Amino acid sequence: MQPDLDASAKAILRQNDLGGYTIPTKGLYPYQWNWDSAFSALGIATYDMNRAWQEIETLFEGQWIDGMVPHIVFRKNDPDYFPGPTVWGASVSPPTSGISQPPVVATVLRALWEGTDRSAYRQRLHRLFPKIMHWHRWFHTYRDPDDLGVIATVHPWETGRDNSAEWDQALAAVDVSGIEAYERRDTGHVDPSMRPHAIEYDRYLGLVKFCRDINWDPEKVARECPFFVADVGLTMILLRADRDLLWMAVELGEHDAVAEISGWISAAEQGVTRLWNDDLGAYTALDLRSGQRIDHITSSTFLAWYAGVGNGEKGDRLLDHLERFWTRAPYGVPSLDPDDARFDSIRYWLGPVWLVVNYMIACGLFEQGQQDVGERIRMNSRELVKRAGFYESFCPVTGKGCGGGDFSWSAAMWLAWATPGGLKAVA
Ligand code: DGY
Repeated sequence: MQPDLDASAKAILRQNDLGGYTIPTKGLYPYQWNWDSAFSALGIATYDMNRAWQEIETLFEGQWIDGMVPHIVFRKNDPDYFPGPTVWGASVSPPTSGISQPPVVATVLRALWEGTDRSAYRQRLHRLFPKIMHWHRWFHTYRDPDDLGVIATVHPWETGRDNSAEWDQALAAVDVSGIEAYERRDTGHVDPSMRPHAIEYDRYLGLVKFCRDINWDPEKVARECPFFVADVGLTMILLRADRDLLWMAVELGEHDAVAEISGWISAAEQGVTRLWNDDLGAYTALDLRSGQRIDHITSSTFLAWYAGVGNGEKGDRLLDHLERFWTRAPYGVPSLDPDDARFDSIRYWLGPVWLVVNYMIACGLFEQGQQDVGERIRMNSRELVKRAGFYESFCPVTGKGCGGGDFSWSAAMWLAWATPGGLKAVA
């Protein structure tokens, strides 16, 4: 057991609890973030199940009428964060951003539900179920408008992997001439060499401006946004979440939903083959505006197992990549292929290891019968926390902590998964 680290992880989650919702970390991310909250709930569940459910319930207070669950819910103004609610210009209450984030909620709730006294939480699951349906339907409608069975995004922030090399090519098409002068806040909180470059930031804001100017109309955003890239991460995570939502529908006797969710799953199982890049032996992103493949292998390719699609020969090729990554980046899984020219071991999503991604990859490996590899990822994750603490991310070459400290989702992944005995805690 790791009593000190367990206690520190709980203390971090408690410090970052601002009353019914948990911020990722003080300073850098002072609001409620979507997938951060969901992963935090897994950690909170190890010591306070009621509070874990509340984390998801408060996130849904920000849900839009069209079903979208925003990536940030701005509960109180904090001038130390940019871009705040006025930049997003969404006329909603509570104020929120205008894009979503990887939908891990259904998968997290299933884990909570399975580790709960079910009768005590059944009503709460019943209340959340239609909201999650509405959100997933929004993804299938507005992020897959041509029914390709893959999920696209209109903003790198929506993928959660802000500065991944996958976006460079498509971002080049974004007009930045109309953006107003602005001051970044993130680089005042953490070492700028661990954050996205200035040109990327301009383009992130160019995309916000574009969507704000068409009033975040979801139909127009999907049809007109200059950036529309089918993302391996979103596609795999939603496919997995749809499987968990289907399971929930059956548990709850929501018969009407079963057919709809089953349709989404079959479409995605077909669609994901569009992302298979046989030259590289990996799933890679696709620029849906230009029709071009994006030839970068990132850690999201290993989410195929989590989505239940990385089997057979494809799975073997993915395992070969994983082994190759480890020879260059022993504390992996690195977020970008260490042999990629854009690899930068400490810069956010260009190399660093993220415990939540490690967790999802390892879960998938376990489920597909690759326990040894999954366990290796878990041991790497444990080692990173022991050496560096609860950082936002970690250098896969040296193991040093990167980005923000006292980070909620890293603390949560420790408690729910990486600590000895962690797996039992929510299972
Ligand atoms: C940021 O501000 O860097 C966030 O990643 C946006 O979600």
